Amino acid sequence: MCGIFGYIGDKQATNLLLDGLRRLEYRGYDSAGIAILNSNISSSKCIGRVANLESIVTSELNGTCGIAHTRWATHGGVTDANAHPHLSEDGTVAIIHNGIIENSRALRNWLTSEGVLLRSDTDSEVLAHLIHRARKDGLSPLDSVRRALRHTRGTWGLCAIFEDEEVIVCARNGSPLVVGVGDGESFVASDPHALTPHTQRVIFLEDGDLAVLTAGGIKTSRLDGGVSDAIVTTIDESWGEADLGDFPHFMLKEIYEQPEALRQCISGRILLGSGNGKLGGLDLATKSLRDIPHIRLIGCGTALHACQVGRLAIEELARVPTQSHVASEFRYNNPVIDPNSLYFAVSQSGETADTLSAVKEIQLKGGQVMGIINVVGSSIARQCARGVYIHSGPEQAVASTKAFSNMIAALTIFSVQIGRARSLSKSDGVSVLKALNDVPDQIERYLSDVGPIMDAVEAVKDAKHVLFLGRGASAPVAREGALKLMEVAYIPCLAYPAGEMKHGPIALLEEGSPVVVICPNDKFRSKTLSNIQECKARGAKIILIHDEGDDEAAAEADVAIAVPSSHSIVSPLLTVVPLQLIAYHAAVVLEKDVDKPRNLAKSVTVE
Ligand code: AGP
Repeated sequence: MCGIFGYIGDKQATNLLLDGLRRLEYRGYDSAGIAILNSNISSSKCIGRVANLESIVTSELNGTCGIAHTRWATHGGVTDANAHPHLSEDGTVAIIHNGIIENSRALRNWLTSEGVLLRSDTDSEVLAHLIHRARKDGLSPLDSVRRALRHTRGTWGLCAIFEDEEVIVCARNGSPLVVGVGDGESFVASDPHALTPHTQRVIFLEDGDLAVLTAGGIKTSRLDGGVSDAIVTTIDESWGEADLGDFPHFMLKEIYEQPEALRQCISGRILLGSGNGKLGGLDLATKSLRDIPHIRLIGCGTALHACQVGRLAIEELARVPTQSHVASEFRYNNPVIDPNSLYFAVSQSGETADTLSAVKEIQLKGGQVMGIINVVGSSIARQCARGVYIHSGPEQAVASTKAFSNMIAALTIFSVQIGRARSLSKSDGVSVLKALNDVPDQIERYLSDVGPIMDAVEAVKDAKHVLFLGRGASAPVAREGALKLMEVAYIPCLAYPAGEMKHGPIALLEEGSPVVVICPNDKFRSKTLSNIQECKARGAKIILIHDEGDDEAAAEADVAIAVPSSHSIVSPLLTVVPLQLIAYHAAVVLEKDVDKPRNLAKSVTVE
């Protein structure tokens, strides 16, 4: 979603800023812009890619202090005028803003009645005018931002620069912002990933924090004028080192990285000797694991599908009632929070606004929430305080792949850990963990010969719609396959538990309709095979994901893709891989922008 990068120091800012924006491109955006302070503020902005912005940036844009932005439209269409930065009428203040100003309509009306000419349809522009008015009243840059924000309701990751003073003022409320401490220079970004080429010393601003950046350093404070608790922390340099290598797209690279990413996730967390799992970050004693009455898993999109797989594993292995929740619904349904229950917030980015808000709601009502997160130091990770990192490494493609696998792996280990504290036998624990341990090698073997993926692509690429079916843990895998194909290839997809198909979606089937069925050799196999017959009887074309050696199932399919056979608890880790590949290759064949699908963002920081 929207990206922010800012620089102040002794170097020419323009190239640094454009480079910063390029590192944020993976988040997804529709326009880009830049403002540089010299003797006055010059800015350029346009719709489209950072490369478009680069082509219109002129030599006037030189100076050692500037801010840059990639916009993902919320209020106002995708137009040059709506791109950030927004300037005050006289051009002496420029701002970039992530988040949503909820009272922008009232503020726009008031500014208009005061004779201010608004040049965009955005909610953000009001901030430039409010800050400018405070500045005209003689307030310092910091106090001008403070006064403007006191009139504002909503969320912000905000940066402002001023014609008459070389500073960047930053503010955070509900939209991530991290400042970077350099030698004789300071940085700000919406994502620490953009800072790592310049500095590993960062300050994660908290909600209500402000920061004033100069070349000489950073001063933080609170919106109410108090002292901020923000401290300098050191982040891992390697986090920023994702590059394509020999792969044409990040999505494909990340699919192929799954074996290694899974090894990173499970390493040191599997105790085969005792058949137990060890997620140290949870810091839960056996006694507490025994007493937990209920578990709730919360996430969005792919993370939600991982929760749905995890829910089944926990109930199966630990016999603890468990539910998964759509984060955006959970928060607003006035959830009943049991302080004895355990809540997990599952997120790759750790910045998803819906999930973060759900965490805050649970905490407000006295619940304990653990994070299952990829990005170290992200907002949700910090908000939860306890939890586990899934160690997928940087995931750049908007379509999540390796994070899905690692979320499931972490939840599987947790299922064993809580199961062993209750009624799970050692031998059952060992058999799940051994199966999990084998998965990286099994995926590697599958990826060395992926089977007739291109035949499946041929069957789906021009389809009006594609139906995905599965039972048990394969039902969320079906949803994940449908989400992947829909988001990168823009093909309408529907996913259903296979047994539910006859209650509605079967009406869609006609001669040649592609149906993707996930049918590993588990207790649901024979029922799913019957559902395949029901589809075939209506002329559907079956793309089947099945276990190696299951020739009887393969014989029922038009396209049969075999994956290595595994324990039913971990089978989603194998069956999802061909679905990821089908989505990827369909998008390539259809010439879609695989890594940055239209309208989507990598970290969804608005509700
Ligand atoms: C996955 O391919 C999607 N792009 C999206 O559904 C994503 O999983 C969702 O927005 C949640 O993101 P998170 O894991 O960073 O919280």
